[in-house]
This record gives sequence, C-alpha cells and structure tokens, in this order.
Amino acid sequence: MKKLSARRRHPLAALVVLLLALACTGGLYAAFAPASKAQADESAQSLAIDEGKKLYAVGCASCHGTGGQGTTDGPSLVGVGAAAVDFQVATGRMPAQQPGAQVPTKPNLYSQAEIDQLAAYIASLGAGPAVPTEEKYGPEGADIAKGGELFRSNCAQCHNFTGKGGALTHGKYAPSLEGVDPKHIYEAMQTGPQNMPSFPDTTMSEQNKKDIIAYLNAVNGDETVSPGGLSLGGLGPVSEGLFGWIFGLGACIAVAVWVAARTAKAKKS
Ligand code: HEC
Ligand code: HEC
Repeated sequence: MKKLSARRRHPLAALVVLLLALACTGGLYAAFAPASKAQADESAQSLAIDEGKKLYAVGCASCHGTGGQGTTDGPSLVGVGAAAVDFQVATGRMPAQQPGAQVPTKPNLYSQAEIDQLAAYIASLGAGPAVPTEEKYGPEGADIAKGGELFRSNCAQCHNFTGKGGALTHGKYAPSLEGVDPKHIYEAMQTGPQNMPSFPDTTMSEQNKKDIIAYLNAVNGDETVSPGGLSLGGLGPVSEGLFGWIFGLGACIAVAVWVAARTAKAKKS
C-alpha cells in the first residue's frame, strides 16, 4: 500500500495513467465496436433475405422457380440484380398476371420495404446491378442538351424523340416515358427490361444516364421546351411530316386549282 501511494506521487504517474486509460478505451473500441456494427449489418441483411425469400415463395416462385432458376412461365432471376427487381415490382409489372406479348404496368402490389426484401433475396442468388442511389439519378450536375443528344441516338428509335413511346413488332411496344420515376428510368437502362437493350456503365457512363434522365424530365415537365409554334404533339418526323403533306401541300394545291380556274375563266371571257 505504502509502495503504491509512493508511486502515485511520482511526477510521471499521471502520464502513465493517462496512457493506460487511452490504450484501454482504444483497445476495447477496436475489439467491440466495428465488429458489432458489421454483425448488425449482416444480421439485418440476412433478415431481409429471409423475409424476401418468404415473399418470393408466395408471389413469384410459381413462374420463376423455387430457387429463381426460371420455369417455362418466367425467366431465371439469378444475376438480374436488385435493380431489376425494384424496377419490375415497383412499376407493377411483376408479379405478372397473365401470359402475353408484354407484361403491362399496373398499380404496385408491394410496399417499398417488401420490394427491398425481395430485391435482397434475388441479389443473394447471384451478383447483379444494385438499386441506384438518389445522387445517381438526381438533377445535380446533369447536362440536358447532352442528354437530348444521347436520347436521340440511343433511345428515340423505340421511344420516340421526346419519349412519347411507339409500337414494336409482335404486339410489343416501347412505353411512353412521361411521368416515369427517375429511379426507374435509371434501372431500366441498367437492366434492359424485355425487348429493350441494357446500357451498363461500360457502354453508357453514370453521367450519361443522369443527362438522359434530366432531358426526359425537361421535355416531359410542366414547361414545354418547344422552340416555338405548334408542337403537334411532339410525335416525330413521320406524323409531323404527314401533317405537312396534308395541310401544307393541300393548301398549295387548292391555291393552284383556284389560280388555274381564274385564268381559264379570264381566257374564255
Ligand atoms: C405469371 C408469371 C410470373 C409471376 C407470378 C412473376 N413473374 Fe417475373 N417475369 C415473368 C415473365 C414472363 C417475365 C419476362 C417478362 C418480360 O420480359 O417482359 C418476368 C420477368 C421478371 C424480371 C426481369 C428479369 C430480367 O431479366 O430483367 C424480374 C426481376 C422479375 N420477373 C421478378 C419477379 C418477382 C420479384 C415476382 C414476384 C413478386 C415475379 N417476377 C412474379 C413472369 C412472372
Ligand atoms: C429496341 C428498343 C428500345 C430501345 C433502343 C430503348 N428502349 Fe426503353 N423500352 C423498350 C421496351 C420494349 C420497353 C418495355 C419493357 C417492358 O415493359 O418490359 C422499354 C421500357 C423502358 C422504360 C420503362 C418505362 C415504364 O413505363 O416503366 C424506360 C424508363 C425506358 N425504356 C428508357 C429507355 C432509355 C432511357 C433508353 C435509351 C438509353 C431506351 N429505353 C432504349 C424498348 C427500347
């Protein structure tokens, strides 16, 4: 006891205690904190996968197979990724109701939490694109003009110049992109639903996807970006050309006929 109290008065005692205390808290933190956080994340994740598996068994397994391997009624979901699930279920395409040329959108049957669980389960079957975060599809730093250019060269052949949609072969169609959630536009490009090609980051960068989304937002937003005059519905060169032919040429012909009739009359008299 005496020895200890003698040491306590040593000039370096305070420093030693401080160092010991620091080492203890540091060591304890290193031992417990990160491990328990990782464990918590892991268990939350496996809980989501379990819940997703249950939802999947009820709503999806009949067409996509009990392990997502696919059946004659639905394709394999191994490796399609969380983004495909979020897109298909949140737009109401999945669960599909009946066979047909194309699965239509309908009111969504699942809550976002349930969709996340389904997505976690299907992502656990094989690696695929993850659901994008908001900074990827948000408007910050997007170039609308560049987006328009990219849209016309990559998407307009199916979706029309301002995304009004159009018919494809065999009863399929590229839907109108008006009012589609930016997140779902991003996911559609990532996953290429049905007849649509996919545009992974290697062929179309994240920035380009952002530009396209901003362009669609601008042409479908409240304020139209029509350069002036009558927009004729923005349906593209075929319908607008037809309009020009019928009314423009029609008017020219009418004038020509009228002029010819006048000259014929003038000659007679
Ligand atoms: C009636 C059968 C049926 C049911 C039920 C069904 N699907 Fe599908 N699913 C299909 C068909 C058919 C396709 C292909 C459709 C297409 O390409 O347009 C498909 C496509 C998908 C795709 C896109 C795959 C890809 O390659 O991008 C996902 C993801 C998907 N389904 C998830 C689900 C989930 C999740 C459920 C349950 C909530 C579900 N499906 C329920 C028939 C079904
Ligand atoms: C070869 C034709 C084709 C091309 C090119 C194409 N798409 Fe599609 N797109 C489709 C079809 C078909 C669908 C409908 C898929 C379905 O219903 O399963 C679709 C669906 C979509 C949807 C979902 C709309 C909704 O109602 O939920 C979005 C968003 C979309 N496309 C955006 C794009 C963008 C952006 C591009 C260019 C980067 C593009 N598409 C290029 C054919 C195409």
